[in-house]
Amino acid sequence: MHHSQLTPLLAIALLLSGCDSSPSVANISFSKQIQPIFAQHCLTCHNEKGEGAIASGLKLSNYKEVLKGTRFGPVIKPGDSLSSTLVILVEGRANPAINMPHGNQAPLSSEQIQILRQWIDQGARNN
Ligand code: HEC
Repeated sequence: MHHSQLTPLLAIALLLSGCDSSPSVANISFSKQIQPIFAQHCLTCHNEKGEGAIASGLKLSNYKEVLKGTRFGPVIKPGDSLSSTLVILVEGRANPAINMPHGNQAPLSSEQIQILRQWIDQGARNN
């Protein structure tokens, strides 16, 4: 009956041991790690009625919409985070005027960007 309490500790131990060898091979979960980043930093503008969704067609409210991209096409290239438009914008590699998030929103932390990139490099799965 104590097994269920051990599981989170084991998960943390596994995560920590993964830190020795960079890059970490921990599997990134879309629902647990990626969606919360979008919810906190992007959804105000990229939900159904947000200015970002209206201007570009990009909604970040669920997996299907994220992979669909803008009305011009995908912003995520599964397996290739470096050339994924979404990553280029959040890393600030584009024209400053179009970096994401727009407005007075704080930029993503380097940890959040790393998580995003790992998720895309692992195939941008719906996990
Ligand atoms: C304050 C509003 C706002 C926030 C917050 C915001 N966006 Fe945007 N986004 C926009 C607008 C407006 C556009 C339309 C194109 C433009 O104006 O640059 C856009 C366009 C985009 C595009 C498409 C660019 C293209 O044309 O190829 C991507 C990708 C994107 N946003 C990602 C994000 C991500 C990821 C976040 C969160 C980290 C985010 N945005 C947060 C307003 C926002």
